[in-house]
Amino acid sequence: MRDFTIRIATKKDLPGISRFGTPVVKSLKFYNKEHTARNVYELSVKDLKDTFKNYKNSIVIAVAKDGRVVGMCTHYIGHGHVDWLDWILVDQSFREKGVGRALINFAMKDAKKHGCHKIFCDTHPRNKPAFKFFSRMGFRKVGILRKHAFREDQIMWEKPIR
Ligand SMILES: CC(C)(COP(=O)(O)OP(=O)(O)OC[C@H]1O[C@@H](n2cnc3c(N)ncnc32)[C@H](O)[C@@H]1OP(=O)(O)O)[C@@H](O)C(=O)NCCC(=O)NCCS
Repeated sequence: MRDFTIRIATKKDLPGISRFGTPVVKSLKFYNKEHTARNVYELSVKDLKDTFKNYKNSIVIAVAKDGRVVGMCTHYIGHGHVDWLDWILVDQSFREKGVGRALINFAMKDAKKHGCHKIFCDTHPRNKPAFKFFSRMGFRKVGILRKHAFREDQIMWEKPIR
């Protein structure tokens, strides 16, 4: 039995997402200063509210039995039936228990419902756990964008949705 549930976030969940997510993004030390500042902003309640308002159903969360948000991902159905996975974050104490897998599976199911045939995402080249995670999740590394967002290299990943 899982000790968490997966669902689409409501407006009430946004402070809880920010509370758990902000320390997680701050712990990712490989991003440069400008990129880190942007990441922290994206986990603020203010920016989460904008995401919530502008992209319906895009925030998926994992909630523990005690009601705490312990994981989240954001995904956006884009042009040509392709789904973009943006953030995926899991609380340190809940890692390697299947939360990340469940979040992606939920997002992919939703994307499939909307006709998507593919999901894609990026990772920082120094993010070794994420590299292992996306490989295990059946994503294929398709290449590296050099000096991309915030002048940092980005590994690009994709997975077909069947
Ligand atoms: C990457 C991250 C989301 C993974 O979440 P998670 O809940 O721990 O992942 P899961 O438990 O669902 O793991 C799914 C698979 O990946 C593997 N995996 C996950 N993390 C791993 C690690 N650090 N090392 C090796 N394998 C790992 C698991 O063993 C599992 O494989 P299996 O089911 O085939 O046995 C989590 O480590 C995290 O939040 N990291 C910080 C934020 C981040 O870097 N996000 C990605 C970039 S946005």
